[in-house]
This record gives sequence, C-alpha cells and structure tokens, in this order.
Amino acid sequence: MSIVTRKIGLSLGADICWPIAYEEILKLLDLSIPMDGDSVTFEVERVTIEPFDLRQANPYDVVIDRLTHWYTSRREWIKKAVLMDGVYVFNNPWSIQSMEKQTSYCAMMRLGLPIPETWLVPPKEYEQTPDLKPTLERYARMFNLDEIGDRLGYPMYMKPYDGGGWVGVSRIDDAAALKAAYEQSGRHVMHLQRAVDPHDLFVRSVGLGPQVRTVLYDPGAPLHDRYTMETDFMDADDRALLLDMVLTINSFFGWDFNSCEALRGEAGVWYPIDFANPCPDSQVTSLHYHFPWLIKASLRWSLFNAAVRRQRALNLNWAPYYKIADTDRSYREKLAAYAAIAHDVMETDRFEEFCQTHLSHLDEVADQWFATDTAKEAVRKKVTALYPEDEIEEFTELFWERIQQYRKDEPPGAPGTTRVAVPRSSTVTT
Ligand SMILES: Nc1ncnc2c1ncn2[C@@H]1O[C@H](COP(=O)(O)OP(=O)(O)OP(=O)(O)O)[C@@H](O)[C@H]1O
Ligand SMILES: [Mg+2]
Repeated sequence: MSIVTRKIGLSLGADICWPIAYEEILKLLDLSIPMDGDSVTFEVERVTIEPFDLRQANPYDVVIDRLTHWYTSRREWIKKAVLMDGVYVFNNPWSIQSMEKQTSYCAMMRLGLPIPETWLVPPKEYEQTPDLKPTLERYARMFNLDEIGDRLGYPMYMKPYDGGGWVGVSRIDDAAALKAAYEQSGRHVMHLQRAVDPHDLFVRSVGLGPQVRTVLYDPGAPLHDRYTMETDFMDADDRALLLDMVLTINSFFGWDFNSCEALRGEAGVWYPIDFANPCPDSQVTSLHYHFPWLIKASLRWSLFNAAVRRQRALNLNWAPYYKIADTDRSYREKLAAYAAIAHDVMETDRFEEFCQTHLSHLDEVADQWFATDTAKEAVRKKVTALYPEDEIEEFTELFWERIQQYRKDEPPGAPGTTRVAVPRSSTVTT
C-alpha cells in the first residue's frame, strides 16, 4: 500500500479566520484513507500570487477559491487549472463570470420558480463612445418610467442587474421616488423588482455541495446580527422546499458554495430574490454561531472531492432541467425533480457514504478545536482586522460566546450533525 497525498489549495484574499479553522481541524483529523489499494493523506496550502507558465502543471486536486470573482490573474490561473489539469474548484469559474443576478433570475423563471415581477431598464447615463450616439438615436425608444411603475406596482426595489453587497439598492414606494432613484442611478443597468411585501420570513440558505444550512436572516440588523441564531422558525415542508430550491440553483449553475435569499410572502409562497452569490461571506464576524457548521461543511465537501479526485462535467447541462420544466407537473413536483438531478450531479449518496466511513470523527474533532485558545485567537484576529481598537474585546467575546452556544446546541452526536444530514425532499421523487 503506498501513501498518496491529495493537495488542497486555499485561494485567499482578506480571509483570516476560516482558513485557520480549516487548516487546524484538518491537521487534527489526521486522515489516512484507504482508497484503491493506497492510503490517501491530505496537504493544504495557501495559493500564492506569482507569474506562471501557461504550460506549467497545477499541483492541486481541489482549490477552494475566494478571489476569482474579482482578482483577474487568479481567475485566469483557475480557469487554466480547470481546462488543462482537471482541478476541482469551488466554484465553477465559468458560471461565476457569466451568471449574474439577471441571468440567474431568467434561468430560474424558466424553471418555474416564483421570482418577483422584474424589469430591466436601460441606464440613465453612458460612457461616451463613437458608436453610442447613432445607436441610441436609431434604436433607443423613449420610455415612461411611470408606466413601468404602474405595471409593476409599489413598493418595489431598484437594484443593479448584477448587484452584490447592497450597492445601489433602494426601496421605492411611489412614482416620485422611482423617478428620483432612476435619476441617480448613473451608468448602472438597473432592475426594478416588485417587493415581496408583506413577508413573514426572510431566510438565507448557505449551500456547500449537497449540504444546506437555512438561517433566519434579519437584513435590517447590523452586520454581526443579520444571521440570527433562531433555529425553530419554519416547518419541515418549508425547509424541504428551500433545500430543493437551493440545490436546484446551485447544481444548475455549478456552484459548490453559494447562498440564496428567499422571502416567504403571501399564501406561504417562497420568493427567491438574491441567489447569484457564489463564494458568499465566510467570516466569523458575520456567521458567528453558524461558523463551525460552515467549516465542517467545507472540510467534508473538499476532502471528498480531493480524495476521490472527482471531476466536474466539462460543461453545464441544462437540458434535463428544461425537460422537467416543460412537463405539466406541479411546481413543487418540478422542484423535487430538479433537486433529484442535483443529488445525482453532486453524487450525494457517495458523498454521504464517504463522510460516514471516513469522517465520522469530524464533528468531535471540530467541537474540541472550537474550545481551544487557537480558535479564540483566530476569532480575535478577524475582529482586530475589522473593528476599532476599543471594540475588539467586546466583539471577540460576543462571537466566541455564540460559537460556544453552537457547541451546546449542536454537540457531536446530536441528530443531523454526525451524519451529513441532507434530508431529501419528502414530497416527491422523480
Ligand atoms: N423583491 C424584494 N422584496 C423585498 N425585499 C427586497 C427585494 N429585493 C431586495 N430586497 C431587500 O434589499 C436587500 C438587498 O437586495 P439584494 O439582496 O437583491 O441585493 P444585493 O446587493 O445582492 O445584497 P447582498 O449582496 O448584500 O445580499 C435584500 O436583502 C432585501 O432586504
Ligand atoms: Mg442580498
């Protein structure tokens, strides 16, 4: 039996706390997994930024990436790694680049998901280029914003078609506010979207491969309180529906790690409003209570993919989803059928078996690590990077207490924590 080492690369930016947790827990796991007559061990390394030869081989089996969406040379390094070396990357770089909010709305509307009524309006201002004037003179039609407002109805939201980080988002209650917001929108291409109003629940679901955590979200709270610590806020049917929704979205776009915001509106309908967030916030300062879950989920999914050297399909395949969309099944039945494709694509059964066989000690090991001084130091380092000097102690304690609360609420062995816990849709199967 020979020892083979799988290499995991962490492609990082300003991240501080989660890579420490990931690296430390991986060390403590002390893995040596029998596989195809070999013994598989793991090495994790932080990817550096340097010149590279396009023909140079990539040493990693899996890369967890947090730079591709904004740092060009890393994006090109990753795309090369996928094209030439078959490296498995969180997330599929092709669809991060091309699938912004607008695209994700259109695709999910095509699958029948209840995206609120949405319009795209041409920008208020343009960068002046030689072709702009003739193009607009010939083809731009005057439009009446009031009419669009009347057709959509108030309240509504104006937000960039490719937005993120709440930049340029405004809530609009009447025609005058709509006009004022458009006047100020500059060169942004904007969506106008009917508000889900009223709504009684706002849930942000974080997906990592087939693992999904649904968190009650409070968008009006300060950043450190937006992910709430509520656990008992919806019933099993709602939860199953959100899981199916998230798996549908993530498998459709090839996103390993993504979050989905959905609001429960009238008649109990869940409206997804923001789900093109591949590589969402992973910092302890936002996730706090949920941070250990994220680290464990990330370890499981990356170790599985590295161990079995899982290859992603070279292209996204949308035809099977469209085929289901074109049947006369109910919406709920379709969603369950899309989720079944997701489980197939993500190989959920194989993943669960891998976790049960080789990572059964993960919950215990992580739980112990989250009680150590090193863990607390990692929290403090992140807090120090973000908070003013006189708040460092207070916020370090706050996030630390919340992590300890998680350890109490979801100790190793608690239902749904020793296993991967991916409840399948209870309603329908394909
Ligand atoms: N259709 C809607 N109905 C109700 N609230 C909405 C709607 N669209 C946006 N919002 C509110 O505005 C916030 C920001 O909108 P959205 O999430 O679409 O933008 P974003 O820039 O992607 O935000 P972030 O990246 O911070 O999640 C949402 O969290 C929600 O509170
Ligand atoms: Mg959002």
